[in-house]
Amino acid sequence: MPDDKVLYVIMCAAGVAVDAGRLVELAQDEGWIIQVVATPSALDFIDVPALEKQTGRPVRSTYRKPNEPKSPRANAIIVAPATFNTINKFAQGITDSYALGVMAEAPGLGIPLVVLPAVNGALAKRVPYRTAVESLRAEGVHVVRTPEGNGAFPWHLALDALSMNGAPGRAGC
Ligand SMILES: Cc1cc2nc3c(=O)[nH]c(=O)nc-3n(C[C@H](O)[C@H](O)[C@H](O)COP(=O)(O)O)c2cc1C
Repeated sequence: MPDDKVLYVIMCAAGVAVDAGRLVELAQDEGWIIQVVATPSALDFIDVPALEKQTGRPVRSTYRKPNEPKSPRANAIIVAPATFNTINKFAQGITDSYALGVMAEAPGLGIPLVVLPAVNGALAKRVPYRTAVESLRAEGVHVVRTPEGNGAFPWHLALDALSMNGAPGRAGC
């Protein structure tokens, strides 16, 4: 397995997560090996067997037991869809799930991390959210500005942001 092409896709409990297989497909087209990580709540929104078939790897939502094998190390991380709840917790350093634990370490390890929010206008106006986005950006996390409106969820923007932020391992590089 090439060791520079492992992309963790962390999925949160937003309605659009039902289509998250689309992001996996786009990333695989760019040559990434995908490890899906889900927040515990996201397990109700995603099709776990379909994603496991698509990636060839188990979907992780809990810490492994000591005798279980480690997942391959992430070379880059996309959090998509990213909820209001998870973005605020990430900024605060809360690690009460495996997904948040992975996210918490990434800036300190220098792993490129892109957040693609699925947050409606009412929540996006809140001061705690705006403060969270600002502080994550100050730490080098790329929080994508998603377009207003009810169009298709812009999964491709997460991959565009990764390639603009120096992530290794894209096909052809
Ligand atoms: C049908 C449905 C759709 C939801 N969509 C969103 C969403 O798009 N964005 C969001 O921030 N929360 C959304 N929520 C609320 C989250 O599921 C809830 O805040 C949850 O605690 C988030 O958990 P997580 O951040 O650990 O994944 C939705 C809830 C339901 C029931």
